[in-house]
Amino acid sequence: MDQNELKKLVGQEAVKFIQDNTVVGLGTGSTVKFMVDALGERVKNENLHVIGVPTSNRTAKQAGSLGIEVKSVDEVDHIDLTIDGADEISADFQGIKGGGAAHLFEKIVATNSTKVMWIVDESKMVQTLGKFPLPLEVIPYGSQQVYKKLAAKNLHPEFRLDEAGKNVLTDSKNYVIDLHLGKIEHPHELADYLIKQVGIVEQGLFLDMVNTIIVGRQNGPEVIQ
Ligand code: 5RP
Repeated sequence: MDQNELKKLVGQEAVKFIQDNTVVGLGTGSTVKFMVDALGERVKNENLHVIGVPTSNRTAKQAGSLGIEVKSVDEVDHIDLTIDGADEISADFQGIKGGGAAHLFEKIVATNSTKVMWIVDESKMVQTLGKFPLPLEVIPYGSQQVYKKLAAKNLHPEFRLDEAGKNVLTDSKNYVIDLHLGKIEHPHELADYLIKQVGIVEQGLFLDMVNTIIVGRQNGPEVIQ
């Protein structure tokens, strides 16, 4: 199976965990796209009723088009389960997210969920976090100053640009700065430092947050709980 087939496999496996009449956080990314497709099938074929709380405009549009009822995080009083992708998961189940520039909304939805599930193909499982650049969502105003501060601390920042060379914008119209760290030995310390910097709205380390991981392996999905 290639990477896309593994993503589809875990997306289809994940929706088996969704129960009728529940509120489900819907992450963002190519793996989640397969999951939302599979959820749409269940809604249509089994008459399953769920409320989906999307973490991006992209996911909201897809879920709505499949007949999944969509509400914003502020319109629900709880979220039973959030299913999301990840960019890297370490051996001790910490994560990096934000490759799709959605980690602010993803973290808001995840931290308001009773349970969090990540779905990934096996290439995302690593020993130590950091090979994948760590995304930061930053307010445009003063972002050059934030950048300089991060560079002076040897955190190897780089503004994320689109093909036209313009700053990538999040759904909140903020910029993304990626930190090219190679290895993150102390994720909790780094997260504490980053979130204290004025102008950084959210950082992409998702620590002590996940309850279930489904890994797409060549011999089938592995569920880690
Ligand atoms: C978006 C994310 C995604 O979950 C992460 O980038 C994984 O994406 P994909 O499933 O496309 O590999 O954090 O901000």
